[in-house]
Amino acid sequence: MEINWEYLHAQAIEAMKTAYAPYSKFPVGAAALVDDGRVLRGCNVENASYGLTLCAECGLVSSLMATGGGRLIAFSCVDMHGNSLMPCGRCRQLLFEHGGGSLQLMTDSGVRPLSELLPWAFGPEEMTKRRD
Ligand code: THU
Repeated sequence: MEINWEYLHAQAIEAMKTAYAPYSKFPVGAAALVDDGRVLRGCNVENASYGLTLCAECGLVSSLMATGGGRLIAFSCVDMHGNSLMPCGRCRQLLFEHGGGSLQLMTDSGVRPLSELLPWAFGPEEMTKRRD
């Protein structure tokens, strides 16, 4: 499928503008292309109880399931300046569940597969493999 990185980047910026980040003052926006062509967004949502903060990727994955599921194909995440931001470790794991190692991510060093950002990942296949 054709990936329009400019559009994804613009969608991530729009999502960033909706962030609720009064504590860190570090708004984050994420956008992803789904295998059926949908483009989803997510923003970070903080909480007075800091540890409960939801990363932008959490909202995006929640939106994925709420709008019909599917596999994530391409992903872009930005900071308040619209610069690419690397997903945190926990969010790499979230993305792996729904996109696998072949999910393409925009980084400062160009487009990279998630398998490079989260090598030797633990994922759904490890679960099924060991149940057989
Ligand atoms: N944040 C995200 O939304 N995604 C990431 O992958 C990195 C961190 C948010 C969480 C928190 O609201 C703010 O950035 C500062 O850590």
